[in-house]
Amino acid sequence: MSDIKNEIEKRRTFAIISHPDAGKTTLTEKLLLYGGAINLAGSVKGKATARHAVSDWMEIEKERGISVTSSVLQFSYNGKCVNILDTPGHQDFSEDTYRTLMAADSAVMVIDASKGVEAQTRKLFKVCGMRGIPVFTFINKMDRDANDTFDLADEIEKELGIAVCPVNWPIGSGKGFKGVYDRNERAVFLYSDTEKGTKEGHVEKISIDDEAALKSAIGEEAFEKLSEELELLDGAGADFDQAQVDVGKLSPMFFGSALTNFGVEMFLNYFLKMTKTPAPRTSDAGVIDPVEEDFSAFVFKIQANMNKAHRDRVAFMRICSGKFEASREVYHVQGNRTMRLSQPQQMMAESRHVVDEAYAGDIIGVFDPGIFSIGDTVCAPGKSFAYEGIPTFAPEHFARVRQMDTMKRKQFVKGINQIAQEGAIQIFQELSSGMEEVIVGVVGVLQFEVLQYRLENEYNVEIKLERLPYEHIRWIENPESVDIEHITGTSDMKKITDLKGRPLLLFINAWSPGMVLERNEGLSLSEFARN
Ligand code: G4P
Repeated sequence: MSDIKNEIEKRRTFAIISHPDAGKTTLTEKLLLYGGAINLAGSVKGKATARHAVSDWMEIEKERGISVTSSVLQFSYNGKCVNILDTPGHQDFSEDTYRTLMAADSAVMVIDASKGVEAQTRKLFKVCGMRGIPVFTFINKMDRDANDTFDLADEIEKELGIAVCPVNWPIGSGKGFKGVYDRNERAVFLYSDTEKGTKEGHVEKISIDDEAALKSAIGEEAFEKLSEELELLDGAGADFDQAQVDVGKLSPMFFGSALTNFGVEMFLNYFLKMTKTPAPRTSDAGVIDPVEEDFSAFVFKIQANMNKAHRDRVAFMRICSGKFEASREVYHVQGNRTMRLSQPQQMMAESRHVVDEAYAGDIIGVFDPGIFSIGDTVCAPGKSFAYEGIPTFAPEHFARVRQMDTMKRKQFVKGINQIAQEGAIQIFQELSSGMEEVIVGVVGVLQFEVLQYRLENEYNVEIKLERLPYEHIRWIENPESVDIEHITGTSDMKKITDLKGRPLLLFINAWSPGMVLERNEGLSLSEFARN
């Protein structure tokens, strides 16, 4: 038992969230330099791939019908076993990006110092907020001219509604970026340029009390500015409070530059100190302790046809408790059967590698002959409980689907339902029509093309998609207590139902949901649906 406890307590499982180009990939690469990477997938894109991404990507995506970039990286550092969950971004932003956050115990939010909070950060942060997981902020690109440090902190607090506590403080930005002041150590860390691709660089540490040395190192002007800012910060900033960090109410804030590797190791060290071991999760049998309980896991993502030759599906599972052993049987709760998980792999994308054992906090991918659904639980035989389901997240793009050959109705219905069941798309119907009119909703527009391609290639069905202008969707949370027929709407509102028959409202304008709420007393709307 104590071995298992040791292994689990070593684990730190987090996702990096950011708006495209803020530096998520670069930071991930730098973090990996500090640890001997144990399992590496094709997730960290090389420079060459990054450049060709736009043109190549569709081909790969089409060939496989899936997102190729989402995966997990595992490395060890200072006795910890770190799992970084890559949240698909850029063109492959999809509902999977949100689902990945359901598998993480904490999140690192990378923000471009000259841009501040951007659209995708806001969306991903919302999901972190819903879960109440710790969120750490890394203000990146300090080697470029940055926004004012206090303004950045204010913006995060106002825009995202989370208090921030700077753990370090930058000294200058752009060409004048000299390093950071570590508030805990009361010392300034000055960095020299690192050699590309290495973690080596010179770090000089000077105590804040050694005024003469500091002045000579950073110059009189920078010293005065730093002193003033620190005084202001001590008077105004939130104090560090681990309990608030643990529940996602306070975000420890760090400054640095992933590209030049300034402040990355300091961030990693503090991060590992301030985040916790795999968290207990709630099930229908109560809270499951990661260490005390036998093996259990839940499916957070299903990826179809990773390898066209095999036409297989891979179910990604987050282990929540105990130890996974490939040789032992597990119980699939929703399927009500005992089975051996077939070809368990730790980390995906281009290279797969079979695992014999894994622990709470780890992610494994298993071959799925079509039995798993997103949110399913597997546990040790003899036990039976289900983890809380993964919510359905609001799509932002909608299209009406027209089938070209009406003779193939059956294949069409089967195909579109299967693809929806995998969670790649969501399908809706107008409140009053049957399966005649199908509306498809996606989180990222690329999923439209994936749908079209997969229906054609796997089900031999040709479809035409007609984009609809809706961008906002809300589930009606209390359908039993409102008269849906008589909801007073806005002119841009449409009533639909999802696959499970739950009623929803679609809107073109962002302000419409608020107006509808005002006009219909007692109505309750939600941006995601609990499953
Ligand atoms: P992403 O995964 O969040 O989308 O961002 P990514 O790391 O790919 O970084 C986006 C661009 O920003 C890259 O430049 C990268 O080199 C640059 N970058 C990342 N961190 C820093 C930083 O700390 N400082 C500066 N100055 N730049 C940074 P690119 O020109 O798009 O690509 P590349 O040709 O340099 O790879």
